[in-house]
Amino acid sequence: MSAPHILATGRCLPGRVVTNEELSRTVDTSDEWVFSRTGIHSRCFCEAETGLDLALGAARQAMERAEVTAADIGVCLVGTFTPDHASPSTACLLQRALGLEEDTVCFDLNAACAGFLYGLKTAHALLSDAARPYALVVGAEVISRVMDMADRNTCVLFGDGAGAAVIRREEDRAWHTVFGSRGDPDSIRVQGPGPVPSSIHMDGKAVFRFAVEVVEGAIRQLLAAEGLESVNDLDLVVCHQANARIVDYVAKRLKAREGLFYKNMDRYGNTSAASIPIALDELVQDGALRPGMRLATVGFGGGLTWAGALLRW
Ligand code: ACO
Repeated sequence: MSAPHILATGRCLPGRVVTNEELSRTVDTSDEWVFSRTGIHSRCFCEAETGLDLALGAARQAMERAEVTAADIGVCLVGTFTPDHASPSTACLLQRALGLEEDTVCFDLNAACAGFLYGLKTAHALLSDAARPYALVVGAEVISRVMDMADRNTCVLFGDGAGAAVIRREEDRAWHTVFGSRGDPDSIRVQGPGPVPSSIHMDGKAVFRFAVEVVEGAIRQLLAAEGLESVNDLDLVVCHQANARIVDYVAKRLKAREGLFYKNMDRYGNTSAASIPIALDELVQDGALRPGMRLATVGFGGGLTWAGALLRW
């Protein structure tokens, strides 16, 4: 029996804030349309920043706050579907930039918007025989790089950013998780890399139906595993920040009290693997997530993948 303990988090957002109003100057859309359907007002897009820059900013912050150094890290994982290169991985670039030891386990993983929780699960497992007791888990995305900025169906939905956590494995503590995938080739597809410019194809309605089903199901499974009757027995719920309507729908189905489900997509849009660690970091920095609190986190995304975890802060 063991569970990961998240010692600290960090986040890094690119400097350029792009509002719905700005997008409406280049595609046929409006703040009213985007906000009413998604809860998004603005997002951040990279200009000069790379995915590594974002990952590094978030990782350094998390390590500083956890009071660990490069010499303490045994595992370094980056969840991303938009790495700077097909190879080397962002995790290897991060290893070099942070000065992590040579025997650190470093790789990227792609579970789309569920990537951070897949990374958490994998890092926790790898820590059982890693060279050192701490792992760095990062979600980092530059989705603006793969978007067709002329496609109003998708260019209003996503944003760039990174979030990171430093974890340690704790023995004698139970940890409940839920993982799944549907092997779906079509509902969300990103072309490339290759000679054809990348772009995101998405069946929005199908993804919406999938998301509300698996998010509600995952939370119910986590509650049952933890022996809890109601979602209101938790201190917080942090879902992947794709769309406010998905979060609100699930909160209503579970009869959640007002404010239990955190939302920040109004400022960041959907940052895929980065959205959950960014949200966790905001909550910690705002004092809303404190030691001893119990929360459910659920991610879902292309594939179609999903992942849920109960965390004790
Ligand atoms: N501005 C104005 N009009 C738009 C825009 C836009 N940005 N985008 C689409 N439209 C139009 C469409 O062209 C369509 O017009 P038509 O009827 O003339 O053909 C109309 O609006 C309705 O389009 P729908 O796709 O039916 O709109 P819907 O109400 O389903 O909303 C949305 C689209 C927001 C994508 C919704 O389906 C949704 O929330 N899906 C969930 C998917 C999601 O969250 N995806 C991102 C996450 S993916 C992930 O995280 C892995």
